[in-house]
Amino acid sequence: MTNKMWGGRFSKATNELLEDLNASIKYDYRLAKYDIEVSIAHVMMLAKSGVISKEECQLIVNGLKKVQKEISDGKFEFKKKLEDIHMNIESRLTEIIGPIAGKLHTARSRNDQVATDIRLFLIDKINGLVELIEENQKTLSQQALDNFDAIMPGYTHLQIAQPITLGHHLLSYVELFNRDKLRLTDSLKRLDESPLGAAAMAGTSYPVDREYSAKLLGFNKPMSNSIDAVSSRDMLLETLSNIAILSVNLSRLAEEIILWVSTEFNFISLPDSLTTGSSIMPQKKNPDPLEFLRGKTGSIFGNLFSMLTILKGLPLSYFKDLQDDKEIVFRSYDTLYSCISILDEILNNFKPNKNKMLSLANKGFVTATDLADYLVKNNNKTFREAYQITAQIVNYAERRKLKLDELKLNDLKKVEPKLKSNVLNIFNLKNSIKSKKSFGGTSFNNVKKMITKYKKIYK
Ligand code: ARG
Repeated sequence: MTNKMWGGRFSKATNELLEDLNASIKYDYRLAKYDIEVSIAHVMMLAKSGVISKEECQLIVNGLKKVQKEISDGKFEFKKKLEDIHMNIESRLTEIIGPIAGKLHTARSRNDQVATDIRLFLIDKINGLVELIEENQKTLSQQALDNFDAIMPGYTHLQIAQPITLGHHLLSYVELFNRDKLRLTDSLKRLDESPLGAAAMAGTSYPVDREYSAKLLGFNKPMSNSIDAVSSRDMLLETLSNIAILSVNLSRLAEEIILWVSTEFNFISLPDSLTTGSSIMPQKKNPDPLEFLRGKTGSIFGNLFSMLTILKGLPLSYFKDLQDDKEIVFRSYDTLYSCISILDEILNNFKPNKNKMLSLANKGFVTATDLADYLVKNNNKTFREAYQITAQIVNYAERRKLKLDELKLNDLKKVEPKLKSNVLNIFNLKNSIKSKKSFGGTSFNNVKKMITKYKKIYK
């Protein structure tokens, strides 16, 4: 017999390479807190159901609390030879309270235990992520307020399209992040069932009350099928996908800011504390944290693909293939956590160069659409006719190297003789922005209204 907890019928020690491969303690130690909660709920349920006595339950619970204290005090020694967090905790419990600890694993298996632990971990971390997203939304709303009237060019195809405000642009990310938040909170519904008591895969002959242990752990109810309870990892896929989508959105914002701080755009500047230098070019201040954020999206995608691949050919129920699930989800979570935290710093600390934004907004015939709309409203043209006339006016201005607001009424009349002098107001950027009052549009009033709304939500 080996000294392993599962060593009953083994006469030889485990090959060292296998021991190394098999040990998940190097990462699943992070489940300790949840594992102890799960064990406490389990023994309380065993006592309530009469499987163990109240006194035994009390001894085990007290022992588990001591283990928890050792872990939080940093005094617990995690041992590789004990394989994973579950056996590390049970072994230490045995040292503290003696053989009565042997009752803890009645009517359960590590399979339902680990599935329950990981659900509790996800619930906890998803709630934390939601708070972090809200921090970013709050910061974006504040920057939008400070810049609600900062005019900048809006782009399509990275070509100047129409004038907008920086405030409006920033608020678009508040909306985007809101859906990320909704996806994450929605996934909590599907995490709200407890696998505990499914035991290895078939359920158990003990008179367990799974409803009770589920409630003790804060779950809505126990999972209905013992095989599903130990085999399913779709909740991990869902979280990994939600994290991947969120990181795409972070990456797009990062990319925009990288463009905005580039020498060519120079729309905003970052403080020294959020840039890094070059070892050879003394003049450089590089937006590394944003590049980090954009780049990390790659490994976050990779984690989702790893998990999808692990599961795709795996029959139900438990296989060792599943052990990697934790490391994968921890990696994605940690990466996302640092990305979204640094993003908040960036959003809090960038300074817009309003003059640069405004001067670029004046380029590129940015009010051409407004002129076409004017012709529809004032000169009885269809939009297509108005579009053609405007295109000719743009060509006329381009040939003469003039901006639209530098054209005289007479220039315009060469293309459309019926134009009146008030058409010249159309080329004013502020007027253009003011006019976009359709719901969700960039008008100053709309943006102010939205900021007031967000300020109430993200206090
Ligand atoms: N450390 C294992 C894991 O995370 C716990 C489950 C072990 N179950 C088993 N049948 N070997 O997957």
